[in-house]
Amino acid sequence: GEKPRLLVVANRLPVSAKRTGENSWSLEMSPGGLVSGLLGVRAQFDTKWIGWPGVDVYDDVGKKSLCSSLAEMKCIPVFLEEVFDQYYNGYCNGILWPILHHMGLPQEDHNDRNKTYQTQYDAFKKANRMFLDVIKENYEEGDIVWCHDYHLMFLPQYLKEYNSKIKVGWFLHSPFPSSEVYKTLPSRSELLRSVLAADLLGFHTYDFARHFVSTCTRILGAEGTHEGVMDHGKVTRVAVFPIGIDPDRFINTCELPEVKQQMNELKERFAGKKVILGVDRLDMIKGIPQKFLGFEKFLEENPNWRDKVVLVQIAVPTRNDVPEYRKVKAQVHGLVGRINGRFGCVSSLPIHHLDCSVNFSYLCALYAIADVMLVTSLRDGMNLVSYEFVACQEAKKGVLVLSEFAGAGQSLGAGALLVNPWDVIEVSSAIREALNMPAEEREKRHKVNIQYVKTYSAKKWGDDFMSELNETFSESEMRI
Ligand code: UDP
Ligand code: G6P
Repeated sequence: GEKPRLLVVANRLPVSAKRTGENSWSLEMSPGGLVSGLLGVRAQFDTKWIGWPGVDVYDDVGKKSLCSSLAEMKCIPVFLEEVFDQYYNGYCNGILWPILHHMGLPQEDHNDRNKTYQTQYDAFKKANRMFLDVIKENYEEGDIVWCHDYHLMFLPQYLKEYNSKIKVGWFLHSPFPSSEVYKTLPSRSELLRSVLAADLLGFHTYDFARHFVSTCTRILGAEGTHEGVMDHGKVTRVAVFPIGIDPDRFINTCELPEVKQQMNELKERFAGKKVILGVDRLDMIKGIPQKFLGFEKFLEENPNWRDKVVLVQIAVPTRNDVPEYRKVKAQVHGLVGRINGRFGCVSSLPIHHLDCSVNFSYLCALYAIADVMLVTSLRDGMNLVSYEFVACQEAKKGVLVLSEFAGAGQSLGAGALLVNPWDVIEVSSAIREALNMPAEEREKRHKVNIQYVKTYSAKKWGDDFMSELNETFSESEMRI
């Protein structure tokens, strides 16, 4: 039969645009787990995607031509124009992101009227209205509207106010914090109430869902039930849907001749050395400084390994206009310099740090040749990089060293070596254990992980969320 119609609404479109002429654009895939996960569900639904195209365009010629380039990919842009900075750099990534990741609020800047919590919050609401306006132009009766992430916490309420018959789901790709941390957010209640307007709320892990429910009970005085949250007689379903990847896309890419060629070149380049790999957006939640400190400790304590191991870190540029991100970048660069200065020699350096993104096939080649993957997030929604590494390791069966504070710690914990990234000694010992692990044990651990990655795929995530949403919606119609 016909595929169900789905409007995916997320701040990020799967492609980001760059202007190449008055009315020409080039489109590149956007980095990040949200995009990767959602690309894996596209085939099952008749999907249109609404979001910010990665640039701002003020002229009509540009807007029109970008709309038509994006239309070929079933994408519809939201032009955020002057609200963008306060909405995205300000409220979303300066305020919500650190709260959601247990990092605390940054000091409010009272010297600049554009930078107070209140003005950024107003911009956030305004941006959410702009998303609503684009949805209104594109919604057809019966469409399911699936809202994504912390950028769009007002959309469920706005959508239901506009038309209470719309099926609305909301999924949070980041962690949800403990109520003790969430409580500090000035607009805490209003935000919770607006997401509760949705029919179904989804989280990556049981812990995040539990934090959300208990935050609603403590801050709103709502009731936590086995289904979710009941506030003023309205029930909102809350459930757990761990996101995944499209494992075949990685497995098949690793088989391509040009990717095999890239693998061979990399192997030759690093001949005689073990390769430890890190792939993260250069975000403070990823714990890149902690990773380097753990590696430094390892080099310090294991002189025999010094010329036999390299750490290759792909640090994908991200959110460069947010002050905290610039700080962490400078800090990371300082550490790389210090460690390479201390342990390097003329012909080789222990850390290969790159501030860039890499294309998909090269990423697969890197994943495939690595001996150890090192993920040291201080807090992370799921962390799909760890899944992708597992999918590319069918031949090598390398070891995943994984932070217990990433959502993935709960799914790949049995096959990975779990670490507390704050503990340099623990990270250093995990690196040693991973590098020395006998093949038999590596195989055993890989088997457990690959089994999980194949079972809990992005496709399953999308199917499960949709069927739960349909079920919840029909139940609530019956109640009315
Ligand atoms: N990724 C990318 N470009 C790169 C390196 C990585 O697009 O140069 C992708 C990677 O394949 C993964 C995503 O970015 O799918 C990162 O997702 P993850 O869940 O690990 O973290 P997030 O960036 O969403 O916090
Ligand atoms: C995380 C967020 C996503 C976001 C991605 C990349 O995964 O949960 O919503 O798209 O990071 O960040 P960016 O700000 O570039 O979209």
